[in-house]
Amino acid sequence: MKRVLSGIQPSGQLHLGNYFGMMSRMINYQQTSDLFCFMANYHALTTTNDCQGLMANTYNAAADFLALGLDSDKTTFWVQSDVPQVAELTWILSNITSVGLIERSTSYKDKIAKGVTPNMGLFSYPILMAADILLFGSDLVPVGKDQKQHLEITRDIAIRFNHVYGEILVVPEPDIDKSTMLVPGLDGQKMSKSYDNTIPIFAPEKAIRKRIMSIVTDSTPVEEPKPVDSPLFRIYALFLSAAEKADLERRFTTPGLRYGDVKKELFERVMETFAPYHQEREYLENHPDHVRTILKKGANKARAVAENYLQKVRDAVGLEY
Ligand code: ADP
Ligand code: TRP
Repeated sequence: MKRVLSGIQPSGQLHLGNYFGMMSRMINYQQTSDLFCFMANYHALTTTNDCQGLMANTYNAAADFLALGLDSDKTTFWVQSDVPQVAELTWILSNITSVGLIERSTSYKDKIAKGVTPNMGLFSYPILMAADILLFGSDLVPVGKDQKQHLEITRDIAIRFNHVYGEILVVPEPDIDKSTMLVPGLDGQKMSKSYDNTIPIFAPEKAIRKRIMSIVTDSTPVEEPKPVDSPLFRIYALFLSAAEKADLERRFTTPGLRYGDVKKELFERVMETFAPYHQEREYLENHPDHVRTILKKGANKARAVAENYLQKVRDAVGLEY
């Protein structure tokens, strides 16, 4: 059985981009794979020093995943910092990783361009991510397109390590789905917590409605056909079957369509899609001990696997004497 692993940075409310790009795909994989899933709170630390905020975001990300159907009996589900072995592997991998490889990271450059202070954690971010993946012998890593380069860096690091020390690490494959790899946000850019252009999965109805109503549309008059590459069309299409999508395309390209009507429909579709999970989400919100017990159990399972790989790495590089 293939080992499938992915993580999510708890740096804000989870949104439709996270859901389609990664979460729903991970949840589907639990039927057929040996699934490993974690909240990457060490990664979140690279861009925040808000202690209470980080704690709340970590808890909420875990509750979102569980409410959406992640089954902690079938999956190894934990918080990254509960398995600190990953920090040791990061250090070891840092020594076979060239500065040039990391300097080419576009996500690092993007974050600096947005005004994030470039601390060393942010710079080393891809090495920590490589350690996350390599510490568990992962075969497949489901992510959105924005993580593609991080996966390439991970593969480079694993290949380099194996070249120097022998075939120890599993070289993982990225798993990027074409139809969901880049969910647009309200403004048409990538939907992202850091662009404040998201539609959250679990938020009060009013807030979700407000967000959907503010999806940017053009000024094409009602009596003219509308473009199908707009964020409104692309977001709505994520919820539709092939036949429904073809019908929406027909409506967009036929004069008379009003954007406001489509937004209302989309709002209803979003609410209907996630309605079955609201009760469970609320239960988890009010039962923190239940969630923490699940996470601590998951951390124990993850730690056992991590220890095994880490021991092989420690032996190979000469840290055991
Ligand atoms: P954000 O950009 O909102 O901070 P993360 O970086 O935490 O999101 O992403 C968590 C997971 O969700 C990753 O696998 C990422 O590729 C995926 N993801 C995030 N935003 C999108 C999007 N707009 N479209 C598709 N996948 C996305
Ligand atoms: N960098 C990823 C993101 O921002 C989160 C992440 C951390 C991750 N470690 C990982 C994803 C390992 C996949 C595998 O979304």
